[in-house]
Amino acid sequence: MASELVRFTVAVPEGLLEEFDEFTARRGSHVNRSEAVRDLMREQIAEHEVDDPDAEVVGSITMVYDHHVVGLSGALDEVQHDHMGQIVSTMHVHLDHHNCLEVLAVRGKSAAIHELADLLLGTKGVRYGRLSCMATTSAIEAGH
Ligand code: NI
Repeated sequence: MASELVRFTVAVPEGLLEEFDEFTARRGSHVNRSEAVRDLMREQIAEHEVDDPDAEVVGSITMVYDHHVVGLSGALDEVQHDHMGQIVSTMHVHLDHHNCLEVLAVRGKSAAIHELADLLLGTKGVRYGRLSCMATTSAIEAGH
């Protein structure tokens, strides 16, 4: 539900505002200064809400691993089967002869998602791993 728009005044150094306007312009003509500031506010709020272990979050876990490492694929599978409630979807890409890229769409309580990411990314043989998530509590559901 969109809430009413409120105007407020912010004092910033001229150079910073110029830089911000240039940055905003690079995002395209559909983004004006107000929209750009709103996006930053939402991003910051959603980012910090993730720190609350009970916050509902959505995001992705990305990992690259060598499927030739003995037992690794099985171990990663085992963790995923134990966390079906948090894993919404999985994409597996065979990158080359050795490497697999896996991207998991995840959703759940922040603590559970971080635990899942730690289990997967901490598994020996995972070469690259990253969890990216944001809280859904205010920023997304508010719809403004
Ligand atoms: Ni593969």
